[in-house]
Amino acid sequence: MLHGLFSQKNKSNPSKNTLIAAVGNTPLVKLERFSKELGFNLFAKLEIFNPCLSAKDRIAVYIIDQAEKDGKLKEGGTVIDATSGNTGLALAMICRVKGYKCVLTVADKASKEKINSLKSLGAEVVLCPAAALPDDPNSYYQKAITLTKEIPGAFYADQNFNLANSEAHFQTTGPEIWNQTNGEITHVIAAVGTGGTLSGSGRFLKTKNKNIEVIGVDAYGSVLKKYHETGIYDISITHPYKMEGVGKSIIPGNVNFDVIDRFIKVGDLKSALRARKMAQLEGVWAGHSSGAAVEALFKTKDDFKPTDNVVVVLSDHGSKYLSTIYNDNWVEEKLYSDSRV
Ligand SMILES: Cc1ncc(COP(=O)(O)O)c(C=O)c1O
Repeated sequence: MLHGLFSQKNKSNPSKNTLIAAVGNTPLVKLERFSKELGFNLFAKLEIFNPCLSAKDRIAVYIIDQAEKDGKLKEGGTVIDATSGNTGLALAMICRVKGYKCVLTVADKASKEKINSLKSLGAEVVLCPAAALPDDPNSYYQKAITLTKEIPGAFYADQNFNLANSEAHFQTTGPEIWNQTNGEITHVIAAVGTGGTLSGSGRFLKTKNKNIEVIGVDAYGSVLKKYHETGIYDISITHPYKMEGVGKSIIPGNVNFDVIDRFIKVGDLKSALRARKMAQLEGVWAGHSSGAAVEALFKTKDDFKPTDNVVVVLSDHGSKYLSTIYNDNWVEEKLYSDSRV
């Protein structure tokens, strides 16, 4: 009976009763204690509720759908991407559901949990040195491109430049935030990696109210803030850092510099401590980049009014960082010893 009902529904929408239907429509909650400390209303968009515990599930759905529509991905095909973990996990999950193979090039600074999760979902993981510059053949970007050429039927998901990434957030995250705040949102802030989350949701929100301020969070050691302010791509300011998914050493096509009003830079240590504080004070267990986004608000809290309704996107779940920011020894050894910021 149930099975019959399901197959009938599937005729109109083949994704309806698969895991793909569980992507998106994440909760928005007020962070009461942080709001009090900051002096304005802070709401968290909990992307940690997606099936693979990050915002990247949304883009994996859109990127693969688009590739199928364009004829770039066919039955028996292989999806390839360069990913710090979350996009890879999401692509691996969608590939399991849809029956594709998945090969991922990953920077070797990614946590062990992330790498093992990718393997658990059937992806092949190719580790590349995090310190390799983007045009170095050993970098995880170049390796993904080489593998796409070598493997027959391969499709390069290319989360940095494939605009299906920001489109996913324009179509889903942005409208959800607008509706969940009854249109009363004044600011949206998120860590910027590929730029998809903030550019897509920010672009949507500005179609509803052009006065909404869209704030990007960048890392010390990344090129994005300087590029936004000066138009100069300055690779000389890059240096290795620990946060995953915050900042870049390239300028991704998914960063829409016209939509983002300003960037705030934060560092590894304070971002990690802020994520830990959020878990302890609010019970919201999120990752390093989420700590970075909230830390950026603490850094600039005087820029906001008591009536402001600020939405911070919490990109991924804290359970992915048990061996890093939620491990006292790691924080002591890796962050306090190099506590630039
Ligand atoms: C943990 C984490 N936070 C934040 C981001 C940034 O999101 P986006 O790539 O949409 O800018 C990413 C992705 O790069 C990520 O993996």
